[in-house]
Amino acid sequence: MKILKIGGSILTDKKNESLANAARHSEIRRVAEEIAARPEELVLVHGAGSFGHVPAKKYGLPDNFSAEGLRVTHNSVVRLNDLVVDALSEAGLSPLPVHPLSCVLLKDGRIESFAKEPIEEMVKDGLLPVLHGDVAMDVTRRAGIVSGDQLVPYLAEALHAKIAAVGSNVDGVLVDGKPMAKITRKDLPSIETYLGGSAGVDVTGGMKGKLLEMLDLADAGIDSVIFNASKKGNIARALSGETVGTTVTRSN
Ligand code: IPE
Repeated sequence: MKILKIGGSILTDKKNESLANAARHSEIRRVAEEIAARPEELVLVHGAGSFGHVPAKKYGLPDNFSAEGLRVTHNSVVRLNDLVVDALSEAGLSPLPVHPLSCVLLKDGRIESFAKEPIEEMVKDGLLPVLHGDVAMDVTRRAGIVSGDQLVPYLAEALHAKIAAVGSNVDGVLVDGKPMAKITRKDLPSIETYLGGSAGVDVTGGMKGKLLEMLDLADAGIDSVIFNASKKGNIARALSGETVGTTVTRSN
């Protein structure tokens, strides 16, 4: 099993605060075609990009509980998910949307439970589950946000993935502008100052949030890669298990 995340910064223009024209249709198509080159036993997670971060910020999610904010934000990320699913289908795959709002429960902002069986059945049947960053109910905080970066390690562990790859629009974890080949938890203090947030509106933590999630996964014994999915060919490479970007690992 392989888990791939494509960041919302690839699929949308996160600096565009109006929702209307923020989808990058040609990038969505390219990503779909690259995935179609290596679609075996895959679960895809995509970021929400401006479709999620802009309404979430507008309604003050996740700190502020807003019934309208939850509905508007969810409906907006579902629209992006529709575009991704349509593009994957046009690329010849058999994608199915899976909306975290309906299958994830949070506790203190972290995934407490997740209905993974439908995903396992989909993959067994040669279908491609397509999840996304979403709003979700939270047993202690009423509601929250479940980012794609949190879904990836959770799914990787729950589904015993062999490959977990997180594609964003930078070449990996950058130190002085260069991607580190490998990173372990003990590198964290010395590189913390290099871990910027995200360009554009982001309510879930940018590169630092991403790295912390993948270090937790490494602690659980599953290595992952953080790579640049905006560079043509990298998605297929990452799905083949080739080294692209930064490997997040437990061992030295
Ligand atoms: C955020 O998802 C979800 C919402 C804001 C509703 P992600 O954190 O996975 O999205 P990107 O990759 O940063 O766009």
